[in-house]
Order: sequence, then C-alpha cells, then structure tokens
Amino acid sequence: MQQNKPEMKITRTEKSTLSHVDFDNLTFGKTFTDHMLICTYKNGAWQEPEIKPYQKVEMPLSLHALHYGQAAFEGMKAYKQIDGNVALFRPEENWKRLNRSAVRLLMPEVPKEVFIDGLVELIKLDQNWVPSKPDMSLYIRPFIFSSSDFIAARPSEEYTFAIICSPVSAYYSGAVKVKVEREFSRSAHGGIGFTKAAGNYGGAFYPTEKAKQQGFTQILWTDPKNHEFIEESGTMNVMFIIDNTMVTPALSDRILAGITRASILSLGKEMGMEIQERSVSVSEIEEAAKNGSLKEAFGMGTAAVVSMISHIGFDTDNVVEIPVPEKGIGAQIKKRLNAIRTGESPDVNGWMLKIN
Ligand code: COI
Repeated sequence: MQQNKPEMKITRTEKSTLSHVDFDNLTFGKTFTDHMLICTYKNGAWQEPEIKPYQKVEMPLSLHALHYGQAAFEGMKAYKQIDGNVALFRPEENWKRLNRSAVRLLMPEVPKEVFIDGLVELIKLDQNWVPSKPDMSLYIRPFIFSSSDFIAARPSEEYTFAIICSPVSAYYSGAVKVKVEREFSRSAHGGIGFTKAAGNYGGAFYPTEKAKQQGFTQILWTDPKNHEFIEESGTMNVMFIIDNTMVTPALSDRILAGITRASILSLGKEMGMEIQERSVSVSEIEEAAKNGSLKEAFGMGTAAVVSMISHIGFDTDNVVEIPVPEKGIGAQIKKRLNAIRTGESPDVNGWMLKIN
C-alpha cells in the first residue's frame, strides 16, 4: 500500500531519563529510550504517525490483540560508528518482513514512509542512547497489533503500529546448550512459522522452560512431522560448520527468514566458504558431532547476533560437546559483521543506513 509522505507530529520529552541508565548493567529489553513512535490505522487508512515521550498507553480489556493474537513484531539494531555517526542495519529488510507477517495475519501493511522515515526521526531524537561499547547496540522493536475494542472472533478493523527502543548488551553471556526437540513443534506447514507473529514466541515458552529445567539454554526445533530435520534454534536460525562447509536448513514456510542469517551467508561467500542451504537431518548432525566433522555450530539472530553452541542434547542422556574455537568461522563472521556495523570495514553491500 503506497501513501504520500505523512505528516509526523513530534513531541520531545521534557525530562530525559538517559543520565539514570547504568549502561554497564543492562538487562535485555528492560530499559527504554526517551521516545516512541505510534501510528494507528482506522477507517481503512493509516493516520498521522506521532513521536512522543515513552509512556504507558491506555487500552480497553476488549483489545482485539489480547484475545485473538493478531500481532507481529520485528527486531533490529542501530549502531554507533567510529566516525560518531549512528547507523541502522538493513532496516528495509525489517520493513519488508514486518509486512510479510502483516499480510499473513490479515493486518494492513505499514507504509515505508511510516516505518523507515518514522524510525529515522525516532533514532535521530534518541541517538545519544545508542551505546558505543563492544557488543552493545540499540535494539529496536517495531510492532503491529489489532486494536479494535470488540471480542467477536473476526478480523480487527483498527490496528496500531509502534516502535520502542532499548539499549542492550550481549543477549547470551556465553555459548549455549541446545536440546533437540522431539515432542513439541514451533510451526507447521501452511502455518505462520515464517512470520514474526507474537504467538510463535509465546508458544515456545513452555517447551523452552522444560528444556531449561533439563539444563539446556535453548531448543533446536525440528520438523513437526517426524522430528527428523532441524529447523531453527530458539529464537535464532542455526548454522553448522561441517568440515569446511557452512550448512544451514533451507528456508520454508515454517522457518523465519533471518536478516542476520542472510547477511552471514553473504559474508561466508565473501570468505570463500562453500554454502549449503538444504535439509539437515538430526542424525547427520549427531554423526558429524561424534566423528569430529562438525567443527562448530552457532545460532544467528538480531538479538543474539552469532551465538556459539557448545552442546547439543540429542536426548537427555546423549549430550555431545561441540568445539567452540576462539578464531573459528563463527567468531570470524561475528567480527566481520561487527566491523561493518561500526564502520571499521567498508560497507560494500550497502547494508548500513546512516541517520545523520
Ligand atoms: C530477535 O533476534 O530480534 C528476536 O526475535 C529475539 C527476540 C525475541 C528477543
């Protein structure tokens, strides 16, 4: 849906909370910047977006999204660059993916002018919140939800799009232990696994909690039919380095098309690695882990970036340790990605959008 550039109402905070933030002790997603963006859709059209001080919003208990879960989100980041600039990483990809989620969940697509222009204005206002220390960034959460106030089980008529921002440090403090999930499923063929629907995450909490009780950090999701093929890891896509090849499950309608995943595949090609996007069976990975051809494994996502996998639990009593080489492929790729984000390496792919 194309619309002319909307007017944007901007109200600046009179009382910044920035000086109260302890940037050395951030808990992921608990601290929010001074401003937020909010834009409503009603009578078949997006209204004027508004940037205003971060605040609570009053909602009725009949709010449609609370009952039927028409809701989706994005995760993206802004980085402080070495020249002092602030830059967003591949924001158009997040805009496109939010709209793919919106279409599948029968929500209106968010115009580029609202998402990208609004985001740039918001980050300009809150640019002093973008941390500059290694492994730190400003996590940005754009989201859309159904906001009609009725509880009839039919699509909402009103929707709300909003963006909130949170300075963050590393998502995981070290390598993760993952459990091959053989009971629960994250998604089904024909379902909404490829979207960032809120419910995909809510539905994962119970199985993940069970895995945690067994000593794991995250789940290695498998196909819903026979639990034979690997799909994703927790909230991340997953990569295996088998001998000298980067192997990752091919995308399908059950798997989220990660922007970090796509970027890492590009960087792997630039490094001269062989890349395979294909079906990856649990038994192949178990064999490779046991015969030593699995050199490393890692998760890839916006929040976690590259998160090394130190153990894979094929069963509770069959947990195999995976090497986590200090200068392995995962570590090299993370370094390359960070160097592009901070401006230390040239942005040859045009991934960074500078906001100043
Ligand atoms: C992201 O990497 O942005 C995610 O989706 C993870 C989030 C649920 C914390």
